Amino acid sequence: MRLQTLKLDPATIILFGATGDLSRRKLFPALFNLFKREMLPPSFAIIGVARRDFSQETFREFVLQALKEFGGYQAHDEQQWNSFCAHLNYAQVNLTEAEHYEKLREVVEQRESEKDIPQNRAFYLAIAPELFSSVSANLKNSRLVETDGWKRLLIEKPFGHDRSSAEKLNREIRAVFEEEEIYRIDHYLGKEMVQNIEVIRFANSLFEPLWNNKYIANVQITSSETVGVEDRGGYYEQAGALRDMAQNHMLQMLMMIAMEPPSSLQKEATRDEKVKVLRSLRTYSVDEVKDHIIRGQYTRFGEYKGYREEEDVDPSSMTDTFVAARLFVDNFRWAGVPFYIRTGKRMPLKSTEIVVEFKNVPENLYFNQHGNLEPNLLSIRIFPYEGIYFKINAKKPGTDGSVSPIAVDFCQNCEGGVNSPEAYERLLHDCLGGDSTYFTRWDEVALAWDFIDPISTAFKEDKVELVSYSAGSWGPPKESHQLLEQNGFHWWPVGEQELPTIHFAKAPFFQVLQDQPNLES
Ligand code: BG6
Repeated sequence: MRLQTLKLDPATIILFGATGDLSRRKLFPALFNLFKREMLPPSFAIIGVARRDFSQETFREFVLQALKEFGGYQAHDEQQWNSFCAHLNYAQVNLTEAEHYEKLREVVEQRESEKDIPQNRAFYLAIAPELFSSVSANLKNSRLVETDGWKRLLIEKPFGHDRSSAEKLNREIRAVFEEEEIYRIDHYLGKEMVQNIEVIRFANSLFEPLWNNKYIANVQITSSETVGVEDRGGYYEQAGALRDMAQNHMLQMLMMIAMEPPSSLQKEATRDEKVKVLRSLRTYSVDEVKDHIIRGQYTRFGEYKGYREEEDVDPSSMTDTFVAARLFVDNFRWAGVPFYIRTGKRMPLKSTEIVVEFKNVPENLYFNQHGNLEPNLLSIRIFPYEGIYFKINAKKPGTDGSVSPIAVDFCQNCEGGVNSPEAYERLLHDCLGGDSTYFTRWDEVALAWDFIDPISTAFKEDKVELVSYSAGSWGPPKESHQLLEQNGFHWWPVGEQELPTIHFAKAPFFQVLQDQPNLES
């Protein structure tokens, strides 16, 4: 939607952490794709900053390898690569050495004058969070941020590890950048279907009138991963699923689902509505946490190691690798509707999906063959499929008069479908165009921590039992199940194996489904 309309000024992107994992896997592929689609500014420079002793050639070779490995680079991209390459430079900087920033400023100024780029600078910190403050201070001291044009800071999560550390970090970076210049990344907000939630909700008269506690029974937001902690044991030990996923990605999806319609598409309108959701989110006291939150940790199963056996993980670690929670948004629209979130590592599927369960019709006359009626479900599928899946009831063809569920299924990235931009493409593009809608504003960060902090305390003080689950399962089965059962609900299956996918371009629009199994096993 906004992708086509932003005006991009000529600019220089200064990428700290240019040899790191995020740059290789996501940022260079995103920049190259934007370049191929002519979605970078009319003139631009990218200056990779890192500690390694790279020549310009070695750096360009490094980037090319990254594109081959992670960016789907093909032989026919060569010509484009050669042009892209001319925009790439490298600066060797030890991030803790103040003098190195003077040298960096010279490199930046030189590139700007060679390419006639006004002093519009985007500083991307793809580096360890401990360095965020000192790098910002060094940017100030070296006058890199004194520009005739604009300056912007793109900053990766985690933004602090609790409210007070986040406040401290915010104060430090605010000494250098204004709030409007800070683009805090939550890459989930760059995902096509997360942005689409807004359009699905507010551009359809079908949904919006029903989008409240009169018609919605509950909402289930799942983001499951099959991977374990990989080589990030050191970081993950401090974060756990709660800080790694719930504080940011899961709450962002909740905000998109629960917010009121924005008054316009102007800059702050969407974020203003999102933050109101967090203001209405019921905060649990440390003692209440156990009643609403499940924490789990994976144990060895088959070929998969248990979490405590992973590299850089304490063999008696109490870190959560799974979290499920029941949340309430205590406002007029949502009073009484539970929002369930669950996220974890080493689960059976890599899947991100939001299932909205509607209330059943009252006193109905129509039943399925088991003598009941399945509720309507709207499933917003974020990954791996991008689309929506809507389950309604209809007469079963034939003479027995019973009711059968029907699926309306739209999948935009299935075979031959739309090739949506990667989250990082969209976010980089938005930042260069000065649109901060899909970045996290400070008040969102602060309120998210206010919600998370008592939960972290309850975990730390062992007020919530740490329940183990076998690697490859859906988390602690009994506890996770009970969380919903207490309200008369159950988790709806997510992911490809449970719900048949009809490719919208090829298949009939409606399909009669078999009765769905109720629960994941
Ligand atoms: C990151 C977390 O923010 O999100 C990772 O730090 C997690 O632990 C990742 O794997 C998941 O993102 P996605 O886009 O693969 O769902």
